[in-house]
Amino acid sequence: MGRLDGKVAIITGAARGQGEAEARLFASEGARVVLGDVLDDAGQQVAAGIGDKAHYVHLDVSSEADWAAAVDAATAMGPLRVLVNNAAIIMPAAIEDTTLDDYMKVINVNQVGTFLGMKAVLGPMRMAGGGSIVNISSIDGLQSKNGLISYTASKSAIRGMTKTAAIEWGRFDIRVNSIHPGGVNTPMGNPTNDPRAEKEPYQFQAIPRIGEPVEIAHAALFLASDEASYVTGAELSVDGGWRAGQVTPGLPGTDFVVEYGYESA
Ligand SMILES: NC(=O)c1ccc[n+]([C@@H]2O[C@H](COP(=O)([O-])OP(=O)(O)OC[C@H]3O[C@@H](n4cnc5c(N)ncnc54)[C@H](O)[C@@H]3O)[C@@H](O)[C@H]2O)c1
Repeated sequence: MGRLDGKVAIITGAARGQGEAEARLFASEGARVVLGDVLDDAGQQVAAGIGDKAHYVHLDVSSEADWAAAVDAATAMGPLRVLVNNAAIIMPAAIEDTTLDDYMKVINVNQVGTFLGMKAVLGPMRMAGGGSIVNISSIDGLQSKNGLISYTASKSAIRGMTKTAAIEWGRFDIRVNSIHPGGVNTPMGNPTNDPRAEKEPYQFQAIPRIGEPVEIAHAALFLASDEASYVTGAELSVDGGWRAGQVTPGLPGTDFVVEYGYESA
């Protein structure tokens, strides 16, 4: 028995990174998966590697026409029960260096893409008798960093829109939740694929390493499955403890050695 037996899922941004990991994991749990992306060669290769249960479509998430075609492809495979709005881009820049054009590029993919995706699956999910939408936000949708004005705006919007949709659609048995990954070892989270980038930036984090794509995929699997039947409007951090706080050298409870320290009373 697979945890997603009998369900059809659309996963956006599935040509690589977390979306690819979700497509592979969901298929291994019995789902039929439609992989959408703008990287057509890579997406087709991932789908071919998964086999008969997978189908690739060109899906620019900011295009309503592409969404209509992706939903048609999914419903041709069976009842559409799951959507993972995973596709995103990031364009780090200081506020004064962020042009309106660049700002809107990020908003159009991350925020508008998530809105269009939710809207596109509503009808088929109601016809199927319910479903689960998993919106991939970020820790930067809960807090921020310098240089991320457009990305944080889009990821905060995803957190908020998730709650609106959860409230509107709970009566149709459609659950809508957001996942907030910390640093993840993908082309977005580790663009230079440098092994040092897997540890050093995370040394003060509770789990002192970068996350792997499959660790986010497992959280998405839970929310997509019927095991999460009473979970909606929730925000699930999968961040190695980033948001819990930082290890503080000099205070007890850590093996970090520092030159300075807190004096005991
Ligand atoms: N990697 C991290 O550190 C991190 C941290 C927090 C949140 N996230 C979020 O996780 C999700 C997955 O990111 P990732 O780390 O796998 O990044 P990634 O860059 O490896 O993958 C993103 C995928 O989205 C696709 N994409 C980009 N624009 C698209 C569009 N218009 N339409 C369809 N697909 C498009 C890309 O081609 C790519 O395949 C994103 O929502 C990202 O914001 C990532």
